[in-house]
Amino acid sequence: MKNASIRVRLTLWYGLALALILSLFAVSLYLVMSRALREQVDASLEEAAAVAIRTLGEHRFGPFLIFEDLSQDFPEIALLDKFFQIFGPAGQVTIQSANIQSREIPLSQTAFRAALEGEVTFESVQFEKGVPIRLLSFPVRQGDQLVNILRVGTSLQSTDRMLHRLLIGLYIASPVALLVSLVGGWFLAGRALRPVHVLTQTAQRIAAGDLTQRIQTPPSNDEIGQLASTFNDMIGRLEVSFRQIRQFSADASHELRTPLTITKGETELALRRPRNAEDYRMVLESNLEEIDRMSRIVDELLFLSRADLGEIKLKMLPVQLDDLVREVQQQAMVLGQERHITTVLENIEPVIVLGDDLRLRELLLNLVDNAVKYSREGQTVTLSLHVIDQRVRLRVQDAGIGIFPEEQVRIFDRFYRTDEARAHAQKGSGLGLAICKWIVDVHKGTLEVHSQHQHGSVFTVYLPLSSSLAST
Ligand SMILES: Nc1ncnc2c1ncn2[C@@H]1O[C@H](COP(=O)(O)OP(=O)(O)OP(=O)(O)O)[C@@H](O)[C@H]1O
Ligand SMILES: [Mg+2]
Repeated sequence: MKNASIRVRLTLWYGLALALILSLFAVSLYLVMSRALREQVDASLEEAAAVAIRTLGEHRFGPFLIFEDLSQDFPEIALLDKFFQIFGPAGQVTIQSANIQSREIPLSQTAFRAALEGEVTFESVQFEKGVPIRLLSFPVRQGDQLVNILRVGTSLQSTDRMLHRLLIGLYIASPVALLVSLVGGWFLAGRALRPVHVLTQTAQRIAAGDLTQRIQTPPSNDEIGQLASTFNDMIGRLEVSFRQIRQFSADASHELRTPLTITKGETELALRRPRNAEDYRMVLESNLEEIDRMSRIVDELLFLSRADLGEIKLKMLPVQLDDLVREVQQQAMVLGQERHITTVLENIEPVIVLGDDLRLRELLLNLVDNAVKYSREGQTVTLSLHVIDQRVRLRVQDAGIGIFPEEQVRIFDRFYRTDEARAHAQKGSGLGLAICKWIVDVHKGTLEVHSQHQHGSVFTVYLPLSSSLAST
């Protein structure tokens, strides 16, 4: 049963339920019918008894009740399939109708005792091999005295035959009805499950590696339709993340290959012939630079994958953000020294946020590093820190190369660098902003970029204000 298809199970359950209903129906029909027939027989016996009593009354003083008189007076009695008996007060037969012939149908003890009490008795009896009969015993009293017991009987043969026929009908009709509805149920279950079949086939094609496949959603928004569209959404997301992973691996290998190629080339060149110590030193220094670059990329990658896995623990403590901004400004001055890029502070409000000091510093440094790196010689980078609408707003503004609008959404992707940036500054792996984004996210903040190509960029960080203390 566990491995059977839903179609088989549905049909079987359906069949079982129907079989139960049918048997219940058959049993109740049989019971109701037999009861109704029995009541009909009893009512006709009572009717006949009433007629007989009336006749008896008219002949009360005669020594014998001539039965033929009864049928003469009431011809319908003769037509009815009934026999009559009249018992004396001691229970002995005095008169009985001719249709009993020589059969003996004595008065039962129960009926006699009930008659003495003045009560009517109904009995069903069957004499050996004879037909079943229904008997009504009716006491005839004068005052307190029991004078006679009238008995009317009738054969139950015809009602029994009727019930028997009903039973046969039910025996035949029920299995046929069951069979017909099982076939119907099988057909309907198949129809209802057809979309599931289509779904499975598409899922199999997708499982075989074709993520561009989509399930054709049925026009109705029923359970199957919802399943199909949920499934399609899921495949869509999978397709995107698969593409990202592929892109990521390609980018990562590419970023690592460049410094490796440089190191290898320089080392090979140096080894081609003997050189003096100064030359070796220069090669080693250059190699060290590339190795630094590679280890930085590997470190950042490691950091991001640990961040993805939720393995990075933050120490969330109150951080005096304005102090941090001032320190980073000093570092930025050093970074820009060579190209005469100055970093200035503008409107720095004293602000405390709840955060990880190291990560916030890294965030700020990355943004400032970008601003300096993508500025042109002699330009200025501006840092500002405000509290606006119960949020801390930290801005890093430059007047450098800027970013095209269509590229602005992608710069937070890992390894993404604009062509403009590559041409302007060779150094850089494209991981800085991905890390910034993660840091801002874990601090429950937002990171926005507004930029105009060739006119500069503004990176704005919003952080929740934990306790804005206007400390001095
Ligand atoms: N201030 C900015 N002005 C212009 N373009 C920027 C600026 N900041 C970032 N970008 C663009 O976004 C890209 C991604 O920045 P990100 O900091 O992630 O990488 P990177 O600075 O190139 O390298 P890394 O920071 O890993 O050394 C940059 O390559 C550049 O194209
Ligand atoms: Mg950067």
